[in-house]
This record gives sequence, structure tokens and C-alpha cells, in this order.
Amino acid sequence: MPGTELFGREEKKEINDVLETGVLFRYNHDAQRNNIWKAREFEEEVKKITGAKFAHAVSSGSTAVACALASAGIGAGDEVIVPPFTFIASVEAVLFCGGLPVFAEIDETLCLSAAGIKAAISPKTKAVLLVHMCGGMANMDEIMKVCKENNLTLIEDAGQAFAASYKGKGIGTIGKTGCYSFDFFKIATCGEGGVMVTNDEEVYKNADCYSDHGHSHVGNNRGMEPHPIMGFNYRIGELSAAIGLAQTRKVPFIREKNREIKDLLVSELSKIPGVSFSTLPDPAGDSATFLNMFLPDTEAAKRTVDEFNKAGVAGFNYWFLNMYHFINQWNHIKELKATAKLPIHVLGAPQDYKNLHLPKSQEVVGRLISFGIRCTWTNEEVKELAKKIGGCVEKALAVTAV
Ligand SMILES: Cc1ncc(COP(=O)(O)O)c(C=O)c1O
Repeated sequence: MPGTELFGREEKKEINDVLETGVLFRYNHDAQRNNIWKAREFEEEVKKITGAKFAHAVSSGSTAVACALASAGIGAGDEVIVPPFTFIASVEAVLFCGGLPVFAEIDETLCLSAAGIKAAISPKTKAVLLVHMCGGMANMDEIMKVCKENNLTLIEDAGQAFAASYKGKGIGTIGKTGCYSFDFFKIATCGEGGVMVTNDEEVYKNADCYSDHGHSHVGNNRGMEPHPIMGFNYRIGELSAAIGLAQTRKVPFIREKNREIKDLLVSELSKIPGVSFSTLPDPAGDSATFLNMFLPDTEAAKRTVDEFNKAGVAGFNYWFLNMYHFINQWNHIKELKATAKLPIHVLGAPQDYKNLHLPKSQEVVGRLISFGIRCTWTNEEVKELAKKIGGCVEKALAVTAV
């Protein structure tokens, strides 16, 4: 959680600016707000980091995914290719915009693969919701090629990859729309918040209206504004945006520290037989929020987790068993349990969710263990952690050798 590690004076200053005006709302109240517009400033800061032409801040990363889908024109009955390894919000956003999720294979990038996407395309496929997992990035050249050849809209859920890039382009800005989460666990936080980005002005206007009941945000009389499209309330408040602004300004520093620390951790862990790492299609663009290591197979990874627990090693994620990040534990989605009918209940699921065949994803996530990088770690702490990890892996792999 690097963002929260550096929480301090800067965040308090931005919050105080808002409290002094008393205007907690991001729109209107021009006379009272003394020219304090934190959501707008936060969006400008996100544009600087990502290179996006347009950025629109909303209430969470989840609502940013919803905005990214809706503003790109994805809706009822559209098949959307999604990964089985993501935070569950990506799949929920497809279901709640009326779309039909189609699960496809990931690869060692931890993201959907071009081959996986290709195999999942049907005549009803409208979009790919590509999720850049664990701070890294997907193989963008290959994926863009498949999307172009098959006329698919690419939506990038970069909830975990703010400030990552691919060949110089900000992750999240390569597809039609992209989005980031600024929740408590990310490289920068608002507390709760998210940002949707695009390079397409029309799509940006859609997001701006969609996230605020259709308001056009023209003029200074909210009750009399036109409403070109329907929408809902996904607005961010000024206090959250103020924190996001201060935090985002710290991201270049955090990213640099993360990279230094991750490099050291990788070089230490590379000495351990049986350990390898996730693939980064552009290593220079890594946001380095996670160290993603592979064990030889799922059983070895599970034994390593047991050894970590015995040795008191903290700060790791074993996603394979996580309730919210891997499809094996998503029975409520497989059984389409909801409080009321969704379009998918009427239209039918495009796949048999209870019997999906995704062997590559099972294998990749099964042997993956991730450590969140802390930007305040000292070199000594990193070396100590690597030593502990090494000891645990050695014990876990010794079982196989017997
Ligand atoms: C890939 C991805 N998408 C979307 C989200 C949702 O973000 P939030 O928690 O801000 O709603 C997350 C959060 O972890 C995420 O990791």
C-alpha cells in the first residue's frame, strides 16, 4: 500500500482547502468555492501521469469500470471477454451494464492473452475488458491486433496498474477507455475513488454525463442543465478528490522507489532454485507495486504458503484461493445469484460458467504468489525478506525432491 505509507501534510493541506470553502461537491457553487476545484485538479494530475487526453474522476475503481464500459457504448446483450483472474469488480461491471461476460485464458503476464481472446470470440462479441493485473501490463501489441482484426472495443481495467506504461504509452490509454482504482490498497489512494480515462472527446462527454444522472455540466444552474443521456450517481466528492490529488503528485516518487526495491528483491529471489517471475511485456513500464513470483506448480505454491504461515512471513497474496480475485471461488457468479433479474438472466449466459475449461489460467494462478512492495522498505528489510522467502521455498520444494 505505498500511497498510504506516505500519507502526510500534503493530503491534510488539500483537505483543508476544501473545508475552508465548505463546498464538498465537485460541481457548481462557483461563488462560494473560492476557485477550489479538487476533482478537476486531481483529473489534471492523472492526465499528467498517464498521458490521457481526458480523465474523469468518480466514486470508486468499480464505478470507473462501469463508466469505462457504458461511455464506450457497451450494454445489454453485448458479449464482453473478461479474465478469470481479476478483482471481481470487472466482471460485476459487465453484468450490471447488461453485458454478458465470456471468460478467456490468461498467460504468464497475468492478463488475458491474445490467443485466449481469439479463442473466445463469437459473432456477439463486442468488447474485451482487459485487466492489467498486479501492477504490470498485458501484451498490448498482440492484443490490439486481435481487437482491430475482429472489430472489438478494447476497455482497459487498469485498477491495479496506475502509472504503468507500455512502450511509452500509459496503461489505460491504449484502448477506447481505461480506468484506475484509488482505493486503500493502490499506489495512490483517495480513500475511495476511481478515474476513467479516454482520448476520445465524445466518449469523455458520455462518462461525464453518465456518472451524474445525465447532467451536461453546462452553465451554473444545475437544476436547468440539459440531460443528453441517462446516467446515475457515480460522483466523487471534493474531499476524496483532494486526497487523490496529493497522493497522485507522489506517484512518480513512489514508482521510482518501488522499482528500486523490486529490482533488489528480484535479484535476491533469482538465486533461489524453483522461483521464476511473471512476464512483463515492457519491463521499463512496470509500476512495480507487486513482486509476482511463480513456483513450479500449484502444490509447490500451496506448500510454500504453508511455510510462509509457519515462519510468520507476511504481506503476500495467494490469489488462487482468494474469494474475490479468482474464478474458482466465484460460485455466486457461476450460479448467477442476484437480488433481481439482470439481462443475463433473460438472455442466457454465453458460456456454461459452472464448467469452464481454463487450464492455462488455473496453472498460472495456481503457482503464483504476489508480495505487495512497500516503498518505505530499506535494503536490509528487503534482503531479510528474501532470505525468509528463500528458506520457505527451499523447505516447500524439498518435499518434491524426496
Ligand atoms: C483490477 C481492478 N478493477 C477494479 C477494482 C475496483 O476498485 P475499487 O475498489 O476502487 O472499487 C479493483 C480494486 O481492487 C481492481 O483491482
